[in-house]
Amino acid sequence: MENKITIRTIREMKGRQRIAMLTAHDYPSALYAERAGAQIVLVGDSLGQVVLGYETTVPVTMEEMLHHTRAAGRGCSRALLVADMPFGSYQAGPSQAFDNACRFLKETPAHSVKLEGGVTVAETIRHLVSGGIPVMGHVGLTPQSVYQMGGYRIQGRGEEGLRALMDDARAVQDAGAYSVVLEGIPSEAARKVTEELDIPTIGIGAGPHCDGQVLVSNDLLGLYDRFIPKFVKRYALMGEEMERAFRQFVEEVTEGTFPDEEHSYE
Ligand code: KIV
Repeated sequence: MENKITIRTIREMKGRQRIAMLTAHDYPSALYAERAGAQIVLVGDSLGQVVLGYETTVPVTMEEMLHHTRAAGRGCSRALLVADMPFGSYQAGPSQAFDNACRFLKETPAHSVKLEGGVTVAETIRHLVSGGIPVMGHVGLTPQSVYQMGGYRIQGRGEEGLRALMDDARAVQDAGAYSVVLEGIPSEAARKVTEELDIPTIGIGAGPHCDGQVLVSNDLLGLYDRFIPKFVKRYALMGEEMERAFRQFVEEVTEGTFPDEEHSYE
């Protein structure tokens, strides 16, 4: 497609234009995210919580991610479609990661994968990139490690925290990632990492100094209310609007006023 956004476009945006990334887990959300101008559509494993109703992202499977990446891919032709590798699909090592990342590129329209971790997954990222698979990194608060972290804890705090974060971010870049998500870190730490790296940083709960920003669409649309982190800005309250419409339907069916003549065939 003409003007298709590639990893090259994204790399070249650093220092020139801020990158807007949105998550999408199905056809309509990808369609509207792209129409709204997002350069990257991420099929995040946040799928597990905001769509499938799991408590964490840990239970999400490859089959679930493949299914939803295909659906989102049908709504997105210009934006760069990125598929999140779910927990357990890459941690066993480069070979397992390559097999699963290949499935996204062969069986869905995704042109890139994302995976969580820094120094510990650098070898895996290097293996994928050298095999022709574009990788977006993800450091800081990595939700798949929720049990290891003992909860969703802000990362990169203090001298030691910042050093570890910087090591992770550099490792991801040096391994060949074309961009990196910075999640759940202080704004100042995100600024330092963004200045240090040559590749674009995309922040979530990482303040205003990143090269781009991402939010989980269901969060910004007000479609998920189990937990609303401080960094989430709700641009709409679609959950409430959905309930209002559903309630009206139920009432009209109960009263017998739907369907009326306008919505019936002669
Ligand atoms: O799973 C997801 O949606 C993500 C974003 C929050 C970056 O990883």
